[in-house]
Amino acid sequence: MTKHLISIEDLEREEILQILKKAEGFERIARGRKSKLLEGKILANLFFEPSTRTRMSFEVAMKRLGGDVVNLTAQEISSIAKGETLADTVKVISKYVDVIVIRHPLEGSARFASEHSEVPVINAGDGAGQHPTQTLLDLYTIMKECGGLDGLKIALMGDLKYSRTVHSLIKALNMFDNRIYLISPETLRLPEEFLDEIDAEEVELEDVIDEIDVLYVTRIQRERFPDEEEYMRVAGSYRITRETLRRAKDSLIIMHPLPRVDEIDVEVDGMKCAKYFDQAFYGVPVRMAILCEVLL
Ligand code: CP
Repeated sequence: MTKHLISIEDLEREEILQILKKAEGFERIARGRKSKLLEGKILANLFFEPSTRTRMSFEVAMKRLGGDVVNLTAQEISSIAKGETLADTVKVISKYVDVIVIRHPLEGSARFASEHSEVPVINAGDGAGQHPTQTLLDLYTIMKECGGLDGLKIALMGDLKYSRTVHSLIKALNMFDNRIYLISPETLRLPEEFLDEIDAEEVELEDVIDEIDVLYVTRIQRERFPDEEEYMRVAGSYRITRETLRRAKDSLIIMHPLPRVDEIDVEVDGMKCAKYFDQAFYGVPVRMAILCEVLL
């Protein structure tokens, strides 16, 4: 059976831990050591939304493992401009390559693509839906930096309504034993459907800053707002600075899926707690592990 990765819920806790363990073994290759593990395999990147980290780290992961990559990025110069459907595009590309990575603005699009593909499909973000490979690298970061994935106090902060990285991460954290805090402006609270599933407390940052182990900050997802006025009402409503972190535990780590706009002041980047650039690097070994999982 073709293995797809569409939602983090496609994986059991043990399968997640296995991927993270594999990723650890790939760190040296991610830093430049040669490998031919995926020689002869080709990955197609189908990105219908902007991306820097996900697209490039998949490309780097594939190439450092000896594989190759083709990209469909400029829709105006592909046959999508002539009206070709996503189903037909995927059907054809899956005859050329060994694995497809897709990002699309519509929730459910990756699942739809997998139903038309002869090869594994990996969801690189479907609207406000899921971003499972980001979740795996988020878990990897927590495991590396905090020494494990249980017994932690984790605060998710920012746009909890539209952030697909949060929607995926929450489902994954459900498989582990942690205390979860939710911090967001009133209009960007986590949707009810998630609140029903997880045991989490809605709090203010100042009430928990001295006890949390992980602060996971997200950007306000401007592109998902139905109108610009609604976005302008919440833009700039939260910002992490050195002052905000004054009472934080020495061992606190700050994560962010990136890109950042203004929710973490650049003055925080030099602090020991700032782990978001390491987190972006971990995307390479984690995506190597995912590619091997679906291809070998
Ligand atoms: N975190 C993340 O998905 O980044 P990109 O949008 O740059 O891929």
